[in-house]
Amino acid sequence: MNAISKIFSSDRYARCVEVSKRVRWDIEQDVIRGRRFDAAHKFLPDGLSLPHSFTTLSVDEKRFVSQIQGRTYANVFGLVERFINAKVLELSHDHWFGDQVALEALVRFSDEELKHQALFRRIDAMVGDVLPHGYRFDVDPNNVAHAVLGKSTWAVLTLTLDIELFTQLHFRESIEPDNELSELFKDVFLFHWKEESQHAILDELEWIRHDAGLTAEQRDRAVNEFIELVAAVDGILQAQAKADANYFAATCGRSVDEAEARGIEAAFLKAYRWQYIHSGAQHPHFGKVLSSLITESQGQRIQAALATLQ
Ligand SMILES: [Fe+2]
Ligand SMILES: [Fe+2]
Repeated sequence: MNAISKIFSSDRYARCVEVSKRVRWDIEQDVIRGRRFDAAHKFLPDGLSLPHSFTTLSVDEKRFVSQIQGRTYANVFGLVERFINAKVLELSHDHWFGDQVALEALVRFSDEELKHQALFRRIDAMVGDVLPHGYRFDVDPNNVAHAVLGKSTWAVLTLTLDIELFTQLHFRESIEPDNELSELFKDVFLFHWKEESQHAILDELEWIRHDAGLTAEQRDRAVNEFIELVAAVDGILQAQAKADANYFAATCGRSVDEAEARGIEAAFLKAYRWQYIHSGAQHPHFGKVLSSLITESQGQRIQAALATLQ
């Protein structure tokens, strides 16, 4: 890294610390504020839950689908934030005896992700209070974190930037005019986004810093590992789409035949792939940073892999 880009990134770490202090929020006092969820509302906005894909369902059933997806949203974030936080703590070692502002930025990032996991556990329990029994999310965040952190830092940071950028798009979808959307869930998107915006900047700074130390061969292997991580995320989404479709069929109050059940499962999977893979991978900034680090043929390898997940 040359002297000018060092000063530039030092400035960006400082700005992240400043904004982190300014936007800091409390789970109970700022987000929950004594409220409960109401099953009369949608929990996820249409731009994420993709109700049009659930072609056989009534309006009320589509609202129920958005509530199931809302509970899964809390669980998926609780899951990914486990490995993101561990990776951030690991990266902070590089700054222990260096840039103390960068170290503070990463410590705050970690502290915020621990708080977000607590928020999402709270949201999972609160949604559970107003939905029928029988919902399942059987993926263990620690097992996933161990598997993810077995891949190279470059691959993990690529996946992390994808995730932290899509929380920005999710927030934008949540502020589209929609009177039926839960005000409490809208606040979850709003407050999460406030802190995630700094995380996305830090991911990029750390990714570029780490990338500068890699050889072309190491980077090429890391591209493959990123593709493997996306496939692993997709495996989790496939299992959860099946679990959520089964839960819907068991609790929707009418019989769902085999063909309809398959259609509902496919619609859940389409929504989850959009929420957790494509909304980040298609983010213009993700594409811009990624293409600045890799070759054209590596980019094509990634695009080809993503295209199989439609
Ligand atoms: Fe977060
Ligand atoms: Fe984050």
